[in-house]
Amino acid sequence: MSAGVRTVAVIGAGKIGELMLSGLLRSGWPVDRLLATARRPARAEELTARYGVRVVDNLAAVEQAEVLAVAVKPQDAAALLDEIGPKVPADKLVISLCAGLPSSFFSRRLPEGTPVVRVMTNTPALVDQAMTAISAGAYATGAHLALAEDMFKPLGATIRVPESQQDAVTALSGSGPAYFYLLVEAMTDAGILLGLPRQVAHDLIVQTAIGAAVMLRESGEHPVKLREAVTSPAGTTISAIRELENHGVRAALLAAVEAARDRAREIAAQAG
Ligand SMILES: NC(=O)c1ccc[n+]([C@@H]2O[C@H](COP(=O)([O-])OP(=O)(O)OC[C@H]3O[C@@H](n4cnc5c(N)ncnc54)[C@H](OP(=O)(O)O)[C@@H]3O)[C@@H](O)[C@H]2O)c1
Repeated sequence: MSAGVRTVAVIGAGKIGELMLSGLLRSGWPVDRLLATARRPARAEELTARYGVRVVDNLAAVEQAEVLAVAVKPQDAAALLDEIGPKVPADKLVISLCAGLPSSFFSRRLPEGTPVVRVMTNTPALVDQAMTAISAGAYATGAHLALAEDMFKPLGATIRVPESQQDAVTALSGSGPAYFYLLVEAMTDAGILLGLPRQVAHDLIVQTAIGAAVMLRESGEHPVKLREAVTSPAGTTISAIRELENHGVRAALLAAVEAARDRAREIAAQAG
């Protein structure tokens, strides 16, 4: 899609909505082709001051934009759709960024025939390193998916998945940055335990995390192979790995991601 031909409205421009706005602007999307909506006037002023983006009310956004990107919290989605749903012409594309909510949640509240695309991105969008998974909901065609991809590609990588996999995606890459931050925090503490100054420990771990991530992406090697290359017989790394296995780190990750998936389902059930 050419960036000049459509107006995108970010409905409920909080943290994730702002990531999308700022990413689109960084990618050269014209600011006059962007709209945002917010609940609090102070938030609206902040967005305009920061990005020069026009903040309008929800119904004006529905009227003026061809693409409606809904970025409210899942628990606010029903009230929002009660307000705008009946007013959305069926030729507009609705993109949901809401964790857990199936596209059918939107379709039930939108006129018959409205295309819905469900998207799960993550906060590294702020540095153009997002992982964004895109799924077709009701009435969404290949062209709608391509349009959503065009919008999210400048923010990082994109992947198409069947909607049935989106709760798993939410648990893995949507929440994923938090797991890595926790790991960095814990490893920094480990460095402090061994007598390193906090900043030195932090810098060592952050660069090691970046190096490992780039190796994974660029070598295309299986992580086991990369780990084996660091794990010499009777060496230091295998001693550490034995402790990680003794403490059930692998099992903890499996259980943690499953818990996030279950929570995504619960949130969807509560949203109605
Ligand atoms: N945070 C993440 O890492 C992440 C990752 C992937 C997906 N998500 C999904 O992204 C969505 C947004 O999450 P978030 O962390 O960005 O939440 P957030 O910062 O609270 O943003 C939601 C925004 O929507 C506004 N809002 C609520 N109801 C509205 C309405 N009726 N009209 C206009 N604006 C309205 C809120 O306004 P007020 O500020 O005035 O309340 C707030 O600014 C969620 O559905 C979440 O599941 C989040």
